[in-house]
Amino acid sequence: MVSLENRVNLCFTHSLSGREIPEDSKEMKAIIAYIEYLSRGVPRGAKIIGEKEMVVEEPKRAVNLVRGEEVYKNQCAVCHGADGRGQRVGKVGDTKGYTFPPLWGADATSESASMFRILSTYQYVYVNMPLGQATWDRPALSKDDAYDVAGFVISHPRQPREGEVAKDFSNPLDKPEDFPWGPYVDSFSEMQHKYGPFDAIRAETASAREKAKREKDAKGNPGALSAPK
Ligand code: HEC
Repeated sequence: MVSLENRVNLCFTHSLSGREIPEDSKEMKAIIAYIEYLSRGVPRGAKIIGEKEMVVEEPKRAVNLVRGEEVYKNQCAVCHGADGRGQRVGKVGDTKGYTFPPLWGADATSESASMFRILSTYQYVYVNMPLGQATWDRPALSKDDAYDVAGFVISHPRQPREGEVAKDFSNPLDKPEDFPWGPYVDSFSEMQHKYGPFDAIRAETASAREKAKREKDAKGNPGALSAPK
């Protein structure tokens, strides 16, 4: 099991391409205190509003980047900037952060973040954006618009996935369907894993996983697959 401190540090090292901070530092204690504050009154293991609703089926097609760019210009650029760089509070280096976060470029979450994968970005955007208009139970964009604009957002460069982080999902069987780096256990391209469509990928991956499981079970129990003599 991963401790909460560990999980927070994984966000720093993975999603933000940063460094771990000490578990007993003032900053870590503040983050843990904030998470505990958010969880007040919620029993351990409870289901909370938003969690199930986040799983929204995506359109059964590849992303359309031209439509995505249109949606971005009309609905997102006002806050996140036409260049996707967001709006800073102060100046570079003053650590005051952003009023509106950057969606790509050097300060955005890195290629290792799940927010670089189309399905997480799509689901997040669908139930949360544009901020102030969408809520989880009343999305503002159509699914098609959310899917295309999410694809447009992740089509831009950001900090690369490299070093230790690049070894994540080293077993191809564990890769999520929208993980844009091969090798895969299916026959589809990195492009299709990045921008869909996903159903055919899911079907092939599921049978590869089943086959791997059968092989493993057979190894653990050698008699299981052979006919009785
Ligand atoms: C009114 C301003 C506003 C508009 C319009 C808006 N956003 Fe946002 N967006 C925000 C703010 C503020 C956050 C940070 C929210 C938070 O951290 O809780 C955010 C966060 C995000 C994130 C998560 C960034 C990350 O890496 O964690 C994505 C992705 C995103 N917006 C995409 C979009 C898209 C796509 C649109 C257009 C459909 C859009 N936003 C429209 C203000 C806006």
